[in-house]
Amino acid sequence: MKNEQIISIPNLCDARAKLTENKITYSNIVINEETKKANKGRKYLVKTYGCQANVRDGEMIGGLLEAANFRKTENIKEADIVIINTCAVRENAEDKVFGEIGNLKSLKCKNKKKIFALCGCMALEPHIVDKVKETFPHINLIFGTHEIPYFLSYVEELFNSDVSRIISVKSQAGEIVENLPSIRQDEFKAFVNIMYGCNKFCSYCIVPYTRGRERSRLAKDILQECRQLVDSGYQEITLLGQNVNAYGKDLKDGTSFALLLEEVAKMDIPRLRFVTSHPWDFSDELIDTIAKYPNIMKSIHLPLQSGNDDVLKKMGRRYSAREYLDLVAKMRNKMPSIALSTDIIVGFPNETEEQFEDTLKIVDLVKYDFAFTFIYSPRPGTPAANLKDDVSKKEKHTRFKELVKKLEISILESSQKMIGNIYPVLVEGRSKNNPEMYSGYTESSKLVHFKAIPSDIGKIIKVKIVKAQTYSLQGEVVDG
Ligand code: SAH
Ligand code: SF4
Ligand code: F3S
Repeated sequence: MKNEQIISIPNLCDARAKLTENKITYSNIVINEETKKANKGRKYLVKTYGCQANVRDGEMIGGLLEAANFRKTENIKEADIVIINTCAVRENAEDKVFGEIGNLKSLKCKNKKKIFALCGCMALEPHIVDKVKETFPHINLIFGTHEIPYFLSYVEELFNSDVSRIISVKSQAGEIVENLPSIRQDEFKAFVNIMYGCNKFCSYCIVPYTRGRERSRLAKDILQECRQLVDSGYQEITLLGQNVNAYGKDLKDGTSFALLLEEVAKMDIPRLRFVTSHPWDFSDELIDTIAKYPNIMKSIHLPLQSGNDDVLKKMGRRYSAREYLDLVAKMRNKMPSIALSTDIIVGFPNETEEQFEDTLKIVDLVKYDFAFTFIYSPRPGTPAANLKDDVSKKEKHTRFKELVKKLEISILESSQKMIGNIYPVLVEGRSKNNPEMYSGYTESSKLVHFKAIPSDIGKIIKVKIVKAQTYSLQGEVVDG
């Protein structure tokens, strides 16, 4: 391509390399007046796919663009810059993105000055960058998850020079940059990163390659962000990390996730949550902290992935089915009403019928309140992607349906048990399907629909559950 500037391209070996230090810098973004003037009237749209980590990144990308005087639009046709913030966790997530960037082409024909950017986890995959380079000439900018603090300079260059494409994607985990501006997606609920990256390298998973090695933020910076959220009236904070239990290990200053969680719980935030906890290093101390503080929601996401020990071993999960069940028993012993949700992968290479049935057995025993289920998707570059697989697609789909059916029984049962009881619900807004109805979540993360009034939005109110379906409840607001 003419005028293409390649600053760096992703390399999966670099992503695996151990970090020598966790560097933290404090940004003081100053945008010069000339740039602001040039951007006056320009609009941006950020479209985010994937997990909460990507949502939070999208909030920062929006914050940086706003700082440079761009304004947000929901209308893709009027956006001067469109940023697609992508997810690479499964092939179907990537297919959606390719559909989306294919659609952008016609917009480019109408307005050649528009800038299209691709960022997020797909940008860290070498084969994806190659495909975008070859197939989608209308994508002007590719930047990775480690380049977010710096991408504005690329945008400026694209607007002000005859460079038509910039690619800047480093795989080696970058420094932590504090104090970046952000535009939060919600007014009552907020995500707070406590760490970045993942060191677990589960054999099927691309995340450690797209997010780099584990790097923890300093507790003081996390607490300061939480304090600001509490002071501005936020009702719920969710602490984010690929494996929050590993928080602080790289800081080597004696801090731990249990200690951090306790410090945040002591602030008067009405609701405190965290995702995700790996069952492998879920400490007793952490269970005690969750039990001790009423504002830590008794709702834990505990990915199982598989209920068979051989499959778990091949997945590199570092726990057995028995250890998982023991952990669940320990939690329920301390907190009988705890709600548990999980992630399960069906059809890992060569999974036998018996191995799949072991997963069903755990589902029967644990009786989950909610679950995310996936059919295994090979991720190029991960060890599992090299395994030969003798399980047919059809068989995987049959198992998937069977698993979902079983899970839905326990999910419905857990919802039905709530009928007749009163629960605090954080009102998020009007229901999508019926503007007369409002919706929100219980402490156990169940979605409830009820009649309310506009001023209830953003408040925690009491709702009596009157009806239960698998994925939602209906309730009536009770006074007091
Ligand atoms: N850090 C989180 C997971 C992030 S990815 C954790 O360990 O819990 C979210 C979920 O996607 C995983 O829990 C897993 O169930 C699923 N997943 C990851 N890679 C996958 C793959 N290659 N195929 C299918 N599902 C996958
Ligand atoms: Fe992926 Fe495993 Fe890390 Fe979760 S813990 S992000 S599944 S490698
Ligand atoms: Fe997807 Fe990246 Fe999150 S791969 S699940 S957006 S960490």
